[in-house]
Amino acid sequence: EKGHYRHFMQKEIFEQPTVVAQTLRSYVRQIDQSVALPQIDFDLSTINRITIVACGTSFYAGMVAKYWIETFARLPVDIDVASEFRYRDPVLEPGGLALFISQSGETADTLAALRHCKAAGQTIAVVVNVPTSTMAREADLLLPTHAGPEIGVASTKAFTCQLAVLAALAAHLAVKRGRMDRAEETAVVNNLVEIPSCLNAALAHDDEIAAMAHLIAPARDVLYLGRGQDYPLALEGALKLKEISYIHAEGYASGEMKHGPIALIDEAVPVIVLAPSGPLFEKTVSNMQEVRARGGKVVLISDKAGIEEAGEGCIATIEMPEVHPLIAPLVYAVPVQLLAYHVACVKGTDVDQPRNLAKSVTVE
Ligand code: F6R
Repeated sequence: EKGHYRHFMQKEIFEQPTVVAQTLRSYVRQIDQSVALPQIDFDLSTINRITIVACGTSFYAGMVAKYWIETFARLPVDIDVASEFRYRDPVLEPGGLALFISQSGETADTLAALRHCKAAGQTIAVVVNVPTSTMAREADLLLPTHAGPEIGVASTKAFTCQLAVLAALAAHLAVKRGRMDRAEETAVVNNLVEIPSCLNAALAHDDEIAAMAHLIAPARDVLYLGRGQDYPLALEGALKLKEISYIHAEGYASGEMKHGPIALIDEAVPVIVLAPSGPLFEKTVSNMQEVRARGGKVVLISDKAGIEEAGEGCIATIEMPEVHPLIAPLVYAVPVQLLAYHVACVKGTDVDQPRNLAKSVTVE
């Protein structure tokens, strides 16, 4: 079943161009270059607030979605981890959409939050990878990902498929709310259909990342930094690394580093910076300088322009294709997944079945 791959996780990382394309086919109408949801008759134009609830990697997909929905559709979005959500007595007013993101569709905390929102009169939307799951059955609006079964405990292809669906949802909401005209919608569609080839371009760096993994594997602690919609990717990179390689890792918003974590920086702490070039790149470059001034070793994951500007003095760089900011989180997911995977291989840990973890968490 693994074909020529060593692990399911590796196979699932490499399946991403195919399964993301497969997922997008349900959300993009090529004929008129528009974004559409599978339940076309479902009206989202009256929604006045969105509450996103999820756990783990699915939660990070939700964090990216918050950026996209607020930016494109100008709808306010709240986001919580499911295990906290019900206990803070959230304000759930009429007209709200509650959005649950879950690969399995069975995660106990997320399901309990769904039922809580349903009882409070919210419209329930779910992004799930298992169409027969409990969450799928209890939803008003089902937004499936078509990643196929995910066997590796660490979520990879389900995450990028979730992002693809959420990008389409953000654009759809923007159109429905009159915040996106036809030309802009066509531009979004063009960006979405480019994702699979951009994922392939990112995957082409596999050997290079495998070689780099030897620099990271001896570390005790690793920091990941990102800004804006790439900040959740820093969190995801850190989660993947700690899950399968058991190296302590933390993700931080780049600008937050000087408010504490900078105290940890020395020659032994690699800092992985996720930073496509763009308006905020300069700020990230100064964060990198702060790290280097303290002897920290920076790995820069950026595009050609970013690496030309700031690659010097880094212990390694990984060049991603130049992509529209909308799709950057999907593309930058690949190097963080591959890095965690190869570090785990260097350390010889059980990549597909990491200790203490279960694929589906059905207890609260
Ligand atoms: C991380 C991972 C977990 C899950 C989390 C939610 O690699 O796999 O953090 O993302 O347990 O699971 P689902 O998406 O099934 O609700």
